[in-house]
Amino acid sequence: MSELNFDPRVEDPRKLRDVSRRGFLGLVSGAAAGLPLAGCAVPAETVAETADDAIPTLESTPRAPAPDDSSAWDVVAGDFLIRDGLSYMNTGTRGPSPRYIHERQVAALTELNSDYLSFTRNVHNDDFQVALRKKLASFVGANETEIALNNNTTDGMIAATWGLKLEPGDEIVYTNHDHSGGSHPILNRAHRDSLSMKIIDVADRKFHPADGPEEYIKAFDAALTSKSKLLSFCHINYTDGGILPVKEICEMARARGVMTIVDGAQPPGMMALDLHDLGCDMYAGPFHKWMLSSMYTGFFYVRDDVQDRIEPVLTTSPPGRNMYGGTELSERWQKRLQTAEKYEPRGSVNMPARMAMDAALDYHTHLTPQAIEARDRYLAAKLRAGLRAIDGVDLFVSEDPRMSCALVSFTVKDIKPTDLNAMLWERHDIYIRNVTHLEVDWDVNRASMHIMVTEPQVDDLLGAIEEIAKQA
Ligand SMILES: Cc1ncc(COP(=O)(O)O)c(C=O)c1O
Repeated sequence: MSELNFDPRVEDPRKLRDVSRRGFLGLVSGAAAGLPLAGCAVPAETVAETADDAIPTLESTPRAPAPDDSSAWDVVAGDFLIRDGLSYMNTGTRGPSPRYIHERQVAALTELNSDYLSFTRNVHNDDFQVALRKKLASFVGANETEIALNNNTTDGMIAATWGLKLEPGDEIVYTNHDHSGGSHPILNRAHRDSLSMKIIDVADRKFHPADGPEEYIKAFDAALTSKSKLLSFCHINYTDGGILPVKEICEMARARGVMTIVDGAQPPGMMALDLHDLGCDMYAGPFHKWMLSSMYTGFFYVRDDVQDRIEPVLTTSPPGRNMYGGTELSERWQKRLQTAEKYEPRGSVNMPARMAMDAALDYHTHLTPQAIEARDRYLAAKLRAGLRAIDGVDLFVSEDPRMSCALVSFTVKDIKPTDLNAMLWERHDIYIRNVTHLEVDWDVNRASMHIMVTEPQVDDLLGAIEEIAKQA
């Protein structure tokens, strides 16, 4: 499935692993990376597959199952390494990798440590990064020139906030349900560069859930003024799981000359994405949550036509002159500076983690983002329906599909969210989390419904909450 233009053994890590046992260097194909090791090539077909090579393929993973096809989704849930008995319902914080992704990352790490030279020539090379950016761009509805690979959402939020050229007195607008990964860079920049800040107050209960997307549009409309230059907000609030009307808000901002950076920590891998359709200027996303890739993987999207306004200040990209004082830049740098790749260079990269990003894209493409979103929505609807039937449960997330997806936020009367977490964990082996910001009167439980969760696990969660609510 990979389109990567390098040694085919890298696309089949079972072979790669075998190579490492036999000595990678001796098997490097001269055609692989544009950096031939003369006289060392051994045809790939001579590499034997052995019985203990256990890297899973996608053959046994169903393709695009219907949301209620429980037996197919049980097979998908079986792809994960999650230990028996544990109900893992916190993908909103971290999405554990299924074997398909995990094993590819481990194989890459093994190769890196067993033969770094061959690894760098065959894997850690431009062809791989170019192909990965391209694959990622097509997955999120962007041009490949608009994608920078990075480490997490916060990286992108920082790059956006510090990169935009601003004058003292210019205003940055954000909400009080944003994550600190987005709001703290704003506080820091405003402090250093004498910028103004405006907080859109969405703490009122009428926003959780809102009657309709208009509630948010009205609040954003009222906040933007001629001083506003940058608007930062979440695609999905991590607090309550509510989806914001990103397209309408970005349209409104653009009409007023306000740049938008959308904190996309939650949607990638949960919902099918089309960034061009959303119309934001910038979007920061992780791969370690719903995409199920390695920790410390993510991307930063910057629309082609605004890249000249976002400086690559947090990178080693040269500002139009080389390190020796001259104005000539290598062809490589010149090319980089013309695309979002200019937001990338920050020293050495964790390539095995990038291999996990590549595998995550293949895994999601195989299941299809549409089927994953439908399944997540199906599980979340089941959970919400069950919670509504329990006395004392209060839900903070909408039934309107435009306004909620796979995160379900709720409280149980007379039980502190941290206590409920602890009881679910200690008595039932169920992992959900609380989101607590007492400054804005926010203290709820939050469950993530992703593809490693089975229907019986949702029933178990509901049964456990009902039992706990009765005892309260
Ligand atoms: C809305 C939101 N923004 C930012 C972050 C930080 O994400 P990352 O760890 O990818 O930087 C999170 C993490 O949970 C989040 O939910």
